[in-house]
Amino acid sequence: MADQPHSSIPVKENCYMVGRRNPDALLQCNTYLFQLGGNGPGSLAWCVDPGSQLDFSVVRQNLVHHLGAIERLQFFTLNHQDPDVVGNLAPLSEENTSLSGLVSEDAWRLARHLGARPRQLHFAHRFQGEDIRLPGGHTIRTVPTPFCHFRGALAFYEPESRILFTGDLFGGLNDPGRLQLWGEEEDWPGIAIFHQIYMPNREAVAFAIRQIRALSPPVEIIAPQHGFALRGDFMHSVMDRLEKLPVGMDRLPRELDDAFLAQYQQVFQNLIDAASARLGRQTVVERLRKARSDTPEAADWVRITRDGAELLTHGLHVLPWAMDVLSRGEDTSFHERLKMIVLHSCHRHNIPLPMIAPGTEGQQPDEWIG
Ligand SMILES: [Fe+2]
Ligand SMILES: [Fe+2]
Repeated sequence: MADQPHSSIPVKENCYMVGRRNPDALLQCNTYLFQLGGNGPGSLAWCVDPGSQLDFSVVRQNLVHHLGAIERLQFFTLNHQDPDVVGNLAPLSEENTSLSGLVSEDAWRLARHLGARPRQLHFAHRFQGEDIRLPGGHTIRTVPTPFCHFRGALAFYEPESRILFTGDLFGGLNDPGRLQLWGEEEDWPGIAIFHQIYMPNREAVAFAIRQIRALSPPVEIIAPQHGFALRGDFMHSVMDRLEKLPVGMDRLPRELDDAFLAQYQQVFQNLIDAASARLGRQTVVERLRKARSDTPEAADWVRITRDGAELLTHGLHVLPWAMDVLSRGEDTSFHERLKMIVLHSCHRHNIPLPMIAPGTEGQQPDEWIG
């Protein structure tokens, strides 16, 4: 082992986080070095997600500290093709011309544009996990985590240490000063926000978590490419919460609600006017007032006045709720008429349509407002 200064952080025996901790950044990039089999004969030096060019000097220095020379690095894996994952592969494979790697073909098609020319590549199966036999008799398992956050994203599992390297999945933003490797409860908001920004939807995350829970032997450590490594109760608690967290496109309707609030308020008034024409304004106000008291969250959605009501927020979701409230007990044609008024009014304002297409009737809004 060389004796130059280093800043790597141990994860488990023979495994280190060799990335840079940047106190000025809210996103830390984790690169890992795993010396499979230690330093002895048959050992294999594996670099997980070589990292960002911005961190190259630190990553290189840490690798040299553990290996003695970059030439001793033998193997790399890439979770996906982003520059914060692949950036350092070009200089590493230039300095070490015998480097070989394992990646999904979908990721490599894009990653190669960053200029890396490793000696040898193995393409892992895109859709199902497989055990990969490595030189020296070591085995790692690929765990596809499709669309988390790339179609061909691959996690890698080392079953002896029970460490799973997950790329961006389970990554997190760090609050200033939270530069430690192991995640704690107060790091959860940064993990949640990271997934809300970078993961496409809850289904993709939940699918990946199901694959991870099914691994045998069970995972002990989750080592993502950003932020915090996870273990113990906190790891399981993060999995439980991420499985249910609305992320990416799940949040889109809420953003649309905010962006088009003024237009949804006008559509809401059209609905109130149309219902009042049949029921009378007083009945409309009474029905809304009663529904509002039956549904506690509705106090945030709608303000009831002496002779009407005003939409406050969540237009995309509140419109079907209000439509249902106003047509309750009335004949189907009245309900259909209100539906058409809402749809046409949205169309006129050129805003996204609420979920009132056939097949969603009767659905309670609290089923989709979290
Ligand atoms: Fe990424
Ligand atoms: Fe990343």
